[in-house]
Amino acid sequence: MAPPVLAGTALDPVRRWLLTTDQRGLADVYDELRAAGPLVPTAWGSLLVTGRRDCARVLTDRTWLTIGARWRDRNCPGWRRSPSTVALCRSALQTDPPLHAHKRHLLTRVVAPRLLPHLDTVVARQVDAHLRALDDRLRREGTVDVVEAVCRPLPTAVLTELLDLPPVDLDWLRTAAHDYSRTAELVRTPTLVRRADAAAVALTDRLGALIDRRRRESPLPRWCEPAPQDALDVLLTLFGAGVVTTSALLGSVCLALVENPATAARIDGDPRLADRFVDEVLRWDPPARVVTRVAAAPAELAGTVLPAGRVVHVLLGAAHRDPEAFDDPHAFDPWRPSERTLAFGAGAHYCVGAAVGRAQAVALARGLARRLRGLRLAAPPRRRTGPNFADLDHLPVTAGLAAARTARPPRARTERHGT
Ligand code: HEM
Repeated sequence: MAPPVLAGTALDPVRRWLLTTDQRGLADVYDELRAAGPLVPTAWGSLLVTGRRDCARVLTDRTWLTIGARWRDRNCPGWRRSPSTVALCRSALQTDPPLHAHKRHLLTRVVAPRLLPHLDTVVARQVDAHLRALDDRLRREGTVDVVEAVCRPLPTAVLTELLDLPPVDLDWLRTAAHDYSRTAELVRTPTLVRRADAAAVALTDRLGALIDRRRRESPLPRWCEPAPQDALDVLLTLFGAGVVTTSALLGSVCLALVENPATAARIDGDPRLADRFVDEVLRWDPPARVVTRVAAAPAELAGTVLPAGRVVHVLLGAAHRDPEAFDDPHAFDPWRPSERTLAFGAGAHYCVGAAVGRAQAVALARGLARRLRGLRLAAPPRRRTGPNFADLDHLPVTAGLAAARTARPPRARTERHGT
């Protein structure tokens, strides 16, 4: 069966999807895409997968491969001239069997035994330090951009401490990690590519030098044990995959708490609820909204047989608003059962650092709910453009007694937010 074809103006939702970043707009776009069908053709020849079941199928079925070096050699002449794309294609994120197993093994050797035993302690210390600094700045300055003060710096600070990296300029590292990870964007402007390439080159130089220096010392940390090129790939992958995604989640956590004071009050009363709240934030607006795959052989999807070579974009955001999988999917219900999230992917490429990202979000939700009641938006948040990442550029907040007094009254159990 041939893939469904949209007629006339039906391509509009695809264009709108590319251009919309705010949640209210996205909810409408996801509904329009779903109404257009489970597989929606794009103007560039690929398909958008809109349903949760089909999205999970693509992620877990071995017929679907990443758009890595092999695919790019056939379809993107000259791609090897882009250092950020080359680095991405050396990472686990865009390699397939049998090489993927090797890349994944290197990563899990670092992440599982080295990072996780210290995770809670490191995260608690870093979250506390960042919230104290935010508190001080709010007292001094009145209004502070919580993205710049907490959501951006926290993931790099946590990852660097967990890995026990030698001293490195954290502001530089975080900016470079953000710029580099943009190479995975679906819509790549020349400026974006230039910045991603420059970041990949700078990261390669500086992290490479750091590896050389660290290899002369003993004992070697886990990330430094493999051959230098493998160690470099591990660091680039962890910072490339783990910084922008976690920043995006932290921004969404802050926004959801500021917009839902009743939820903040409940988490303050019972910090165990922070886990559920974070699950709902991950469902509501998954930090990584799109995953792309290509069919290695003819593949059946949503009742259609797709030819080998067909590219699909798995829309995690749309999957999370699928009414067949979630009751009242556009409602933000922090206490709903959450086991159906695809926010960390599924199958062979399931996120290696899910526990690291989650731990920061849960600790931040608890810390904000406890210490900064009465926090409110000082101006509308600004989102980054591009369909891939759900990160905020700017989330200015104010706090204090006046804010606490004017905080909105508690609302019903199911709340809505959607900036
Ligand atoms: C809230 C934060 C995070 C979210 C939402 C997230 C999301 C994802 C998703 C959706 C994938 C699957 C990509 C695919 O199937 O192509 C993935 C893979 C990956 N993530 Fe995360 N991630 C987060 C945090 C982190 C952190 C903190 C790290 C590192 C410490 C990390 C490292 C990785 C790596 C290395 C992969 C590739 C695994 C593979 O291809 O085998 N992530 N992540």
